[in-house]
Amino acid sequence: MTVDTRLLQQGAGTDPLREMSRRTFLNYAWLASLGVLTAETAVVFYQFAMPRLGPGEFGGPVDLGLAEILPGIGADPEPFHKAKFWWVVDDEGAAIALYKVCPHLGCIYQWKPNQAKFICPCHGSEFERGGALIRSPAPRGLDRMVIRAYDAADELVAETNERGDALHIPDGARLVVETGLRILGHEAA
Ligand code: FES
Repeated sequence: MTVDTRLLQQGAGTDPLREMSRRTFLNYAWLASLGVLTAETAVVFYQFAMPRLGPGEFGGPVDLGLAEILPGIGADPEPFHKAKFWWVVDDEGAAIALYKVCPHLGCIYQWKPNQAKFICPCHGSEFERGGALIRSPAPRGLDRMVIRAYDAADELVAETNERGDALHIPDGARLVVETGLRILGHEAA
């Protein structure tokens, strides 16, 4: 007797039991994907909502201890890498904390002692020791961070004003730089 194999193959493709288990499997797979997506979304929201800064990390207040860490009056600026700024003390002894990132496209500029200015290696912007713009393409001078000075009783005794003027720091003060509070540099005239 001959068996018509075409009929057998056709019949196998439409077996209701196989069709059911295939659909069940796809449903489970879809639910599993949805579960993974939901879990990933929840993790992202949690990370976004929770503060990610520990004490002393860039983005928050960085406690620098006593004011003796400052460079001398009129000395070359000194980088403070952990908090991403340059310490500058002007000729009158007042301090500035310059954010280390160029306001043009975000490169890290450098102090050039032999030229007595900051120069950005990416597109050649130049800035004075105090952060004022000398040469574009940067659209403004260097941004400044807010400095706060506290006395031995932990009272605030001096603070960078809203214009970002250099701050006279009382003797023996403890310094905190607010790395998340930046004052934009002055725009080119
Ligand atoms: S990023 Fe500094 S000059 Fe362009």
